[in-house]
Amino acid sequence: MIEVSQRKKDINEVIKKYCSSSSLKAIGYDYSEYGRAYHFTNEHLIELYNQIDFTNYQTGLCVLSSGDHAFNMIYKGIEQIDTFDSSRLTEYYALGIKKTAIEVLNYREFLTLFSNSLFRNENELALEKYVLSCTSEEYKSFWIAFLEARKKLGEEKPTIFTICRDVGIIRGNNLYLQSESAYNRLKDNLKYARLTYTNADITAVSNIFGTYNVINLSNIISVLDSYVEPAVIHNMIKIIYDHNLNQNGEMIYDYKYMEDVISDDEYFLGVDYAPKIIRKLAGDEVACLQKR
Ligand SMILES: C[S@@+](CC[C@H](N)C(=O)[O-])C[C@H]1O[C@@H](n2cnc3c(N)ncnc32)[C@H](O)[C@@H]1O
Repeated sequence: MIEVSQRKKDINEVIKKYCSSSSLKAIGYDYSEYGRAYHFTNEHLIELYNQIDFTNYQTGLCVLSSGDHAFNMIYKGIEQIDTFDSSRLTEYYALGIKKTAIEVLNYREFLTLFSNSLFRNENELALEKYVLSCTSEEYKSFWIAFLEARKKLGEEKPTIFTICRDVGIIRGNNLYLQSESAYNRLKDNLKYARLTYTNADITAVSNIFGTYNVINLSNIISVLDSYVEPAVIHNMIKIIYDHNLNQNGEMIYDYKYMEDVISDDEYFLGVDYAPKIIRKLAGDEVACLQKR
């Protein structure tokens, strides 16, 4: 539950950032407190999650981002899923809009609403009519204020999204969008799942959270690579592995970019990012991480 004072602050900050004439300029990637949200994942979560046997796993921890890391875990049967993200906007989008949309729309309606930029005129009407009317008050008041502020901007509207992909790529990366029955399975699983969000930087994760069967650190690690020393990153991964991963649990700590549009070798120009998934076995000293 977002405190009323926090929500007011969030509305003011997001309107200041995304609904003024200066915000119409490209903002680019930014991972601040109100950084832009990912519309859908750009990671090939199908390949990553199909490498893990989720049968006996009940708990998961992951970045929130577009929500897809969590939704794919819930699709796989994870019941308790805690998420974190440095951007508060991710909660309003992934939990306030996308999760509600999955709950109330059918497969075709969902793909139609999300297949291009959500905040287009015709989609805004559908968003207000079908999704915002069903979301909880804390999220609804935020989005209504946001949409009101946008109406004053005229034709050229700022985007709160980093990138919007077409429907082929959106489906290509997500297990729950593979078919109507897959989508309905996620809908069913969502009824029982407990999904939380905490606004936190990845460096605070080991102290804030408990232990889990599966942890997905996503490509936050690759983002940190550009401004944090490799030794510091390595140490942080090791601390999360030691403190937050259950025995026999599995941790995804690196990136699998998109579906097979581009190979890892091309994307990372030969940087050795493998292995991307490690399992915690008794007495394991995280030897594989020494590779970094
Ligand atoms: C690194 S981005 C990349 C998107 C990702 N590949 C996906 O498929 O969604 C993922 C998310 O990480 C968040 N993020 C970036 N740096 C972070 C940090 N240091 N701590 C917590 N979250 C962070 C961003 O706000 C963003 O929502």
